[in-house]
Amino acid sequence: MVVAAQHSVSIVEPFDAIAASYDRIFTDSLIGRAQRAQVWKEMDRTFQPRQRLLEINCGTGVDACHMAARGIRVLACDSSQSMIAVAQQRLRASEYENLVEFRQLAIERLAQLRGLEPFDGVLSNFGGLNCISDLRSVARDLASVVNPGGKLILCVFGRFCFWEILWYLLCGDSIKAFRRLRTENDFGRSSTTTRVLIKYHSVRALQRAFSPYFMLRRWRGVGVAVPPSYLEKLAGRFTGPLRVAARLDSLFGPCPGIRALADHALVTLERLDE
Ligand SMILES: C[S@@+](CC[C@H](N)C(=O)[O-])C[C@H]1O[C@@H](n2cnc3c(N)ncnc32)[C@H](O)[C@@H]1O
Repeated sequence: MVVAAQHSVSIVEPFDAIAASYDRIFTDSLIGRAQRAQVWKEMDRTFQPRQRLLEINCGTGVDACHMAARGIRVLACDSSQSMIAVAQQRLRASEYENLVEFRQLAIERLAQLRGLEPFDGVLSNFGGLNCISDLRSVARDLASVVNPGGKLILCVFGRFCFWEILWYLLCGDSIKAFRRLRTENDFGRSSTTTRVLIKYHSVRALQRAFSPYFMLRRWRGVGVAVPPSYLEKLAGRFTGPLRVAARLDSLFGPCPGIRALADHALVTLERLDE
């Protein structure tokens, strides 16, 4: 079944289907850990203890718990009830129950958070915004709940992933090799029964959509030398080279030119004064 991201009722299904296996397939994988380590460096640099943060597509809650371990308060939302259930299990097994609240809420419904205590920052990690076509509405809704000076960290799929192009060209699949460059939405990633509608936003498009309320501070690539997660089997056979790749990512991820070749773009924005 193919589902459209803008229909918040149906988008829940594909991620519900993978919630139970998500940590095994991605969070705890070699590639997932290597890529997340780069995101955590940016989060640790940007968000400070005692701040209050909003996470808008929290998945199984690993980033929310990481932030809570640093003394940050987090409201973590996701449209998938099954993802939230796994996240709540993680939280119950931790010491941070007083710092994190998980809530089922779609990005398209963020306006519902108006009136709550404002947030000092926002996190969207690993592609939640690739399920959204209308970034301007998201920017407007986030602007209404984030304090001036508050930081947004947005990690989205890159549009020109060197690894993906090389891998699929070697496999003889030129359609998949260049799927991220197509301007229309791509019905790319599939779970067992459903497929997700993915929009590959450029950093420029993100910047433009958020520019009425947020200023681009910096951006880097995540997964320049570390490959996309569907190459986990390959990574498992070459753990030494993967460690070197993680080091290269750390060094070259911020470099102009090179950063544009990455699996993910990690973008940091700042809320402008009213
Ligand atoms: C690839 S997972 C990333 C999860 C988590 N942020 C992480 O770092 O592991 C994408 C997540 O986005 C969520 N998602 C997709 N569309 C969404 C929407 N419209 N509103 C809220 N969450 C959404 C999915 O349910 C899923 O948990």
